[in-house]
Amino acid sequence: MAEQLVHPTPMRGVPQPRREDVLGQPRLRVLDHPLVTALLTVARDERTPPAEFERVLHELTRFLLYEALREEPLQTFRVPSPTGEEADGGALRAGLAVLAILRAGLGMLAPVRQLVPAAPIYLVGARRDEETLRSTIYYKKLPGRFDVLRHVVIVDPMLATGGSAVATVELLRQTYSGPISFLGIIGAPYGVQHLLSADPDVRIYLAALDERLDDRGFIVPGLGDAGDRLFGTQ
Ligand code: PRP
Repeated sequence: MAEQLVHPTPMRGVPQPRREDVLGQPRLRVLDHPLVTALLTVARDERTPPAEFERVLHELTRFLLYEALREEPLQTFRVPSPTGEEADGGALRAGLAVLAILRAGLGMLAPVRQLVPAAPIYLVGARRDEETLRSTIYYKKLPGRFDVLRHVVIVDPMLATGGSAVATVELLRQTYSGPISFLGIIGAPYGVQHLLSADPDVRIYLAALDERLDDRGFIVPGLGDAGDRLFGTQ
């Protein structure tokens, strides 16, 4: 006889904030644009294959980065234009770094590389135990020196309970006290509240703030497990 699969339900009975409870938080920015809605629709659709899912993740990441880097300081200089005139220009100052949370954060790296090619990329592996929903760090490749950094952008498509993001921020905070921005595709109010209260400075940028976590700790309506969607695993 086939064994019945029983899913753990660690979120059952756990109180959760509502969307309205967190939407007004000054350190939270949720994108609101028809292009974003159209892209999210493709990402949410379970019939979207991995390669297309990744493409959509890339596009959404561009918009998130656009918002998160709005205040970035520029190194200004002038360039000669073909008209014979000089134009004012600028480039992002050094000191911006990106940290991707494995595995799904890998799906947000390509557009970051294109838009901010000079930014070093660090990797942290965080695994969520599906029974307890606790996250543990199983891999880290962080910089040798933190004093040269002035803004760290963390990328991970999902902010569910917030455990993985909080564990990553706590790890960073052992050696880095500057600004941190978290870029996610979809978040739950519970995860937003968890991350905002875990760190007094972190800023969160999301393409969508969904309704809640289900009993298993999945964001609903959500898009499933971003890592599995991205890599075609189950
Ligand atoms: C997923 C997701 C986040 C985390 C979010 O990763 O990519 O890292 O869960 O959940 P949380 O906010 O409750 O911590 P997962 O642990 O499934 O690992 P994977 O990326 O290797 O699939």
